[in-house]
Amino acid sequence: MPATKGDLDVLLIGGGGREHALAWSIGKSPLLGKLYCAPGNAGIAQVAECVAIDVTDHAAVIAFCKEMNIGFVVVGPEAPLVAGLADDLRASGIKVFGPSKAAAQLEGSKGFTKEICDRFAIPTAAWAKFSGIPAAKDYVRQQGAPIVIKADGLAAGKGVIVAMTLEEALEAIDTLLAEGGDVVIEEFMDGEEASFFALSDGTNILALATAQDHKRAFDGDRGPNTGGMGAYSPAPVMTQALIDKTMETIIEPTVRGMAELGVAFTGVLFAGLMLTKDGPKLVEYNIRFGDPECQVLMARLKSDLLALLMASSDGTLDQIQAAWRDETALTVVMAAKGYPGTYEKGSVISDVETIGENDAIVFHAGTSRQDGKLVATGGRVLCVTGLGKNVTEAAAKAYGAVGRIDWPGGFNRTDIGWREIAREKTTG
Ligand code: AMP
Ligand code: GLY
Repeated sequence: MPATKGDLDVLLIGGGGREHALAWSIGKSPLLGKLYCAPGNAGIAQVAECVAIDVTDHAAVIAFCKEMNIGFVVVGPEAPLVAGLADDLRASGIKVFGPSKAAAQLEGSKGFTKEICDRFAIPTAAWAKFSGIPAAKDYVRQQGAPIVIKADGLAAGKGVIVAMTLEEALEAIDTLLAEGGDVVIEEFMDGEEASFFALSDGTNILALATAQDHKRAFDGDRGPNTGGMGAYSPAPVMTQALIDKTMETIIEPTVRGMAELGVAFTGVLFAGLMLTKDGPKLVEYNIRFGDPECQVLMARLKSDLLALLMASSDGTLDQIQAAWRDETALTVVMAAKGYPGTYEKGSVISDVETIGENDAIVFHAGTSRQDGKLVATGGRVLCVTGLGKNVTEAAAKAYGAVGRIDWPGGFNRTDIGWREIAREKTTG
């Protein structure tokens, strides 16, 4: 654990690769006193004290903060935010990074986000919401395929069906509405996807950086959808002109609109974009850092993360800037065999400690220590992150380190960054 430098004691909520990256970055802050993480993992334990608090028990989180004199709470995942943890902490006088429950609807409810888009003229796919199967089916018969059917609510990417035929669309409606609830039916947007991250303090916005990820489990972007098997930042497709356009047509109207509606957004806005021939359009918002996008963002961030997150919470984002390394960061996710389906827990991982930070940064996603051995405890287990002058070089660094990790129980994609690597080959 690094020597303490400041006097701000911080509690980080979460225990995945995103939180290891956040902990690693917060750990470098001169403002930091002691860092705690609930629940954390074996990698986070190198930079923070992991504590076993049940984060769904808000009273227990508040009691811990009071007892340990926590000055700032950073919430990593969406679920505690959608459940109102930030509201309860604020009501107890504890500073927190992350949106209120009402503002977290930007991720928690697709219908809410679509209404914001309509109201503030934010470019996105045309949409309609249905709760009954016959009405939903009539609508897709009118619209035709390709068309996109989504469950309304948090579904970890699993509730989205991009139907290329009418039959698939009708089947998707039956599946998603089988147990009640609502579906959002959207126009199919054609283009390349990219992600954009910005901090907001409710009024001011600080643009962070761009990234692209790979959601499918296997090489060639085949196989089932996952939380993300790898990512890189920056995304060269996101030119400065596209970043400016995204800020002007999507991020700024969202932040202004949310404030106008009395649900000011503080925290990080993660915009999933489709780069269409008519410009960037919003696919979805997340209200937290991406996982594994956060790993590549933190590998590139030169500024004090803790100061940035505090400024978002304090309403002072207009007084701070974020500086980034010029290099590209690329992360390769090593997952347990079987992920995203069923997989075994407890397989032993060796040789991670032979990798120094100059080779690659190994962020832990689902690990723990048992009898001194590093073992896999999750689906996504390690995020091996390389830096290089472009995607090709960053990938070479990351894969060089992946090759040195001995984990018979794991697998990884071998083609993270393929689209950019192909472009770099032709452009030099
Ligand atoms: P979401 O959970 O809304 O991000 O959707 C998951 C994935 O489905 C996205 O990353 C896109 O690849 C795809 N997708 C969602 N909405 C659309 C759309 N309207 N047009 C085309 N693809 C979409
Ligand atoms: N990697 C996508 C996400 O965090 O939602």
